[in-house]
Amino acid sequence: MASESEHSAVVEDGVRRRDFINIAAVSFAGVGAVAVVLPLVNQMNPSADVLALSSTEIDISAIGTGQAIKTSWRKQPVFVRNLTADEIKAAKAVPLGELRDPQTIDERTKPGKENWLITLGVCTHLGCVPLGAAEGENRGDFGGYFCPCHGSHYDTAARIRKGPAPTNLVVPPYEFTSDTVVTIG
Ligand code: FES
Repeated sequence: MASESEHSAVVEDGVRRRDFINIAAVSFAGVGAVAVVLPLVNQMNPSADVLALSSTEIDISAIGTGQAIKTSWRKQPVFVRNLTADEIKAAKAVPLGELRDPQTIDERTKPGKENWLITLGVCTHLGCVPLGAAEGENRGDFGGYFCPCHGSHYDTAARIRKGPAPTNLVVPPYEFTSDTVVTIG
């Protein structure tokens, strides 16, 4: 027969064991709840790298008339071109009825800044990066951009003029934050 002290040790041990099991169960429930809640919170908050990519500031002060640069926004190539007066004139001279995706150059640029043509560098056919932004690259039959993948030609307003691409190069959302800085996104 168990002595008094042995009995209380068993009881104590039993209590401790139950406490441990309860604490363990609560802890698991706690971990489970956190594990369920975190993914939901994470889904609602864009990650830091997504936030950083959501807008891009570009210094355009070094882009001379007739030059273009290739940059990126949200991991997509972007062309920024400083059009010459002749390129603007050529774009304006095209009757809208001749265009597959009719848009004026004014609709594709900002008021008073029609020399700045900012588009995604993504061909609207199957997504290749057209040529024409870098010095000496083939700019196609219409003096804008040329996609070598299947031969799409874009004009000086980056509108599709020939080849399989269905639409003009896309103009992303952007603002001039000063005369020399553009924020895309
Ligand atoms: S992807 Fe540009 S022409 Fe096909």
